Amino acid sequence: MSQKLVWINGSPKPDHPSASHQMIEYLSNLLTSHYDSMLEVNALKLSLQPTKLTEHFKEVLSAHVMVIVTPLYADSMPSGLLDYLYQFENFVKTHSEDNLKYPLKVYGYINCGFIGGYQNHIALEILEHFAHRMNFTWCGGLGVGSGAMLAGTLYSVPKDAKMQRPIYEGLDVFIKALKSQKAIPTCNKQLLVTQDFSPSLFNFALNINWMAQSGWKFKKIYAKPYLKQ
Ligand SMILES: Cc1cc2nc3c(=O)[nH]c(=O)nc-3n(C[C@H](O)[C@H](O)[C@H](O)COP(=O)(O)O)c2cc1C
Repeated sequence: MSQKLVWINGSPKPDHPSASHQMIEYLSNLLTSHYDSMLEVNALKLSLQPTKLTEHFKEVLSAHVMVIVTPLYADSMPSGLLDYLYQFENFVKTHSEDNLKYPLKVYGYINCGFIGGYQNHIALEILEHFAHRMNFTWCGGLGVGSGAMLAGTLYSVPKDAKMQRPIYEGLDVFIKALKSQKAIPTCNKQLLVTQDFSPSLFNFALNINWMAQSGWKFKKIYAKPYLKQ
């Protein structure tokens, strides 16, 4: 039976440099022998085109696997993705005649900016609640810390480098689950990983990056205006 997977990209950023899109490209390349058809849609772009949504939701309902790949926005997800999920729920409620052909299996991949994959656990729970409300099968997800740094080092830093190892161990489990269409094998179906990197060095690199983007001087980064009388 031909197997179909739909990637839902939750990032509001353009594909390049979105870390979510880069991970979708990376994972897709590893799954080509397990899926006959893979499709990526951007939740924000789609939720702004209501005329295309009905066809799209029908397409997702005819797939076997849906993978939501998104950045973490303050314990949750970008509003464009939340809106997409609300509209999907509404569609299923109001189109009960469109019986599911296959029970859809849902996975999540959340990447956050800071070192600390643990931050992603609430967003993964939100996706779990969504899957249950929709009567889909929740298969769990991967929460990745320093997601943007991972995207930037995917092809330049070797897989077995010390800093990348925890991430690739998590990715291996995630990819295995996607290939077999089984749940993430942990008690809560979540796996939270982050790069093995010095947090102070990470913050320093972030500050340098932020200065390059904003034109701010180093002193301004550490300014504490709230302490001034
Ligand atoms: C509005 C907003 C809220 C964010 N909240 C968090 C957060 O709570 N924790 C964190 O580590 N990163 C946070 N980030 C950083 C993003 O999750 C991170 O940069 C991610 O890798 C971006 O993915 P993308 O390139 O696919 O959009 C936030 C970013 C934005 C713009």
